[in-house]
Amino acid sequence: MPPLSRRKFIAGSSLALIAADAAPQPGLHARARARGLFYGSAVNDDTLTNDPAVLGRIKAECGVLVGEAQFKWGDLRPDAKTFDFTRADALLAFATKSGLRMRGHTLLWHEGNPAWLEKTLTPANAEKLLVDHIRGVVGHWKGKLMHWDVVNEVIDSDDKQPLNLRKTLWQQALGARMLDIAYHTTAETDPSALRVINDYGTDYTLAWQDRKRGAMLDLLADLLHRKVPVQAVGLQAHLDGGEVTLDQKVLAKFVADIASMGLKVIVTELDVRDQRLPADIPSRDETVAAHARAWLDAVLSNRAVLGVLSWGISDRNTWLNGQFARADKLPQRALPLDAALNRTKLWSAIAASIDAAPVR
Ligand code: G3I
Repeated sequence: MPPLSRRKFIAGSSLALIAADAAPQPGLHARARARGLFYGSAVNDDTLTNDPAVLGRIKAECGVLVGEAQFKWGDLRPDAKTFDFTRADALLAFATKSGLRMRGHTLLWHEGNPAWLEKTLTPANAEKLLVDHIRGVVGHWKGKLMHWDVVNEVIDSDDKQPLNLRKTLWQQALGARMLDIAYHTTAETDPSALRVINDYGTDYTLAWQDRKRGAMLDLLADLLHRKVPVQAVGLQAHLDGGEVTLDQKVLAKFVADIASMGLKVIVTELDVRDQRLPADIPSRDETVAAHARAWLDAVLSNRAVLGVLSWGISDRNTWLNGQFARADKLPQRALPLDAALNRTKLWSAIAASIDAAPVR
């Protein structure tokens, strides 16, 4: 039995520990704001309409939202003449009511399109379709969205097209002019929304990703030289916790190269797939968290980075369980909150990386 004074000390310490545990840790956006950053999440229609518990956690963790599909052609354009803003407006109403800002995603992509667009798009009508869409959509939310992912995933050097553009319906119809049209029309319609080029696959030293980083820098240089008003790069950051070719120096240099062109950077779709990792949850979580921490530390160290969004907030609802399903069918643990809405090691890694970022 320790002497009384020591016993008091022990009792006092454990009380202090309990008190510290009970005090809620600030959410990710509150921590980000302290560094001049923001934190946010994608939200899909299912979550917005059916999952108030997740919405509650979104309010606690986020300052910025983005629609997972609601702002894409497929959701907004039932036909060539009509705009249906219902689902997107519902998400914006939730964001506004909750004091959250919103990004727009996306105005030109080769996926998420309605079948009628794929059937009717020709070189002759493409420019009018694109301009009308951007004027209608960007104009509808003029002054209300903080950013637009004007174009999404336009690079694929394997397609052997000029400027390493991906061979898509838009690219085949308009060539690189699709970028000029998209950025100029967005700038004219809502000058206040930051104009982003968003893409994936620039995270590792895999050969195709080395090429993609080079292609992105070349494309940005070309756009800026031609006075195409792109203002920021969105790094999707769909990370792979089983990938071993993450080189922080290469990543930091890529971000610095973008910043040296006077452009901003946003981490737009962070998640860490774990389908190559063993089933054991503690070790899976450990690897996922360390992987994200290494990636985020390299990127957030650059003051050109404005903020981070994850592609969903909770493992309850992630696209990864479809496209990157684990062989053992276990649900992935790819997001800051698990399916029971508990903060995971990934949450702590994101929080720590934000805390360590230089103040903007
Ligand atoms: O809303 C309808 C619903 O009414 C219907 O019952 C259901 C039946 O399948 O479909 C629902 O729409 C789906 C929508 O997600 C719901 O969120 C679409 O079919 C489905 O195609 C759509 O998938 C999204 C995909 O982009 C295409 O838009 C994924 O959720 C979304 O995670 C994914 O996001 C992309 C980013 O935009 C770009 N980067 C990669 C990322 C992952 O693929």
